[in-house]
Amino acid sequence: MKRRVAILISGRGSNMAALIRAAAAPDFPAEIAVVISNRADAAGLQKAAESGVAVEVIESKPFGKDRAGFEAKLQAALDARGIELICLAGFMRLFTAEFVQRWYGRMLNIHPSLLPSFPGLDPHGQALRAGVKLSGATVHFVIPETDAGPIVMQGAVVVRDDDTPDALSERILGVEHRIYPEALKLLARDQVRLEGDLCRTKAAEQADQVMIWPMVS
Ligand code: GAR
Repeated sequence: MKRRVAILISGRGSNMAALIRAAAAPDFPAEIAVVISNRADAAGLQKAAESGVAVEVIESKPFGKDRAGFEAKLQAALDARGIELICLAGFMRLFTAEFVQRWYGRMLNIHPSLLPSFPGLDPHGQALRAGVKLSGATVHFVIPETDAGPIVMQGAVVVRDDDTPDALSERILGVEHRIYPEALKLLARDQVRLEGDLCRTKAAEQADQVMIWPMVS
C-alpha cells in the first residue's frame, strides 16, 4: 500500500512538482493525496491541479496569530484524506509545538542550505557572505525550531567566487528536486529510523565520495 502524502505549499511549488513527478512512477512507495496551500494565490496550486492532484486552500491569514485555529482546520483536512505523511515544500507558516509533536517523524521539510548552517531567511546570501566553498540542500524531520531537526538527506554543490544568490539558488534548487523525492522514498519505505536527535538510514549504501572545491591542478 502506498503511503498517503500531503504536500503543503505557500508559493511557487517547484519542489511540490518534483515530488508529484516522482510519485507518478508505479513503484514509488507514496502517493500525493493532496496539495494544501495556506495562500490562495500560490502559483503551485495550478501546477498541482494540472497534474491531476487534489488541491485545497486553507488560508492562514484570517487566523492571524491563532496558529492552533489554523492547525485545527488543517488537521481536519488531513484526517479527512487519511494522510500519513506531510512534506513541507516552501510552506511559510510556523507551527505550534503541539502540531509538530503530533506529526513528529512523519513530517519532512526541505531547506536550501547544508543545515545546521544558514537556517531561516536568505540562506543563499548567508552562504555567500560566509564564503563557504560548498553549500546545498537538506531534507529533515520537522521539530518546533525553524529549519532544524533530524537530517534525512543532504546534497551539495560547489560555491563559485562569482556566484550570486540567484545563481546559487538555481543550482541548489536542482539538488532539492533530486533529494526530496529520494528522502520521501526512504521514509515511505520505513528505511529511516530516529535515534534521539539523529536520523539513521537502513540499508544505506556505503559511499566514500568526497567533494573538494576549489581544486588546483
Ligand atoms: C525552496 O528552495 C525551499 O528549499 C525553500 O523555499 C523554496 C520553495 O520553493 N524553503 C525554505 O527556505 C524553508 N526554510 P518551491 O516553492 O519552488 O519549492
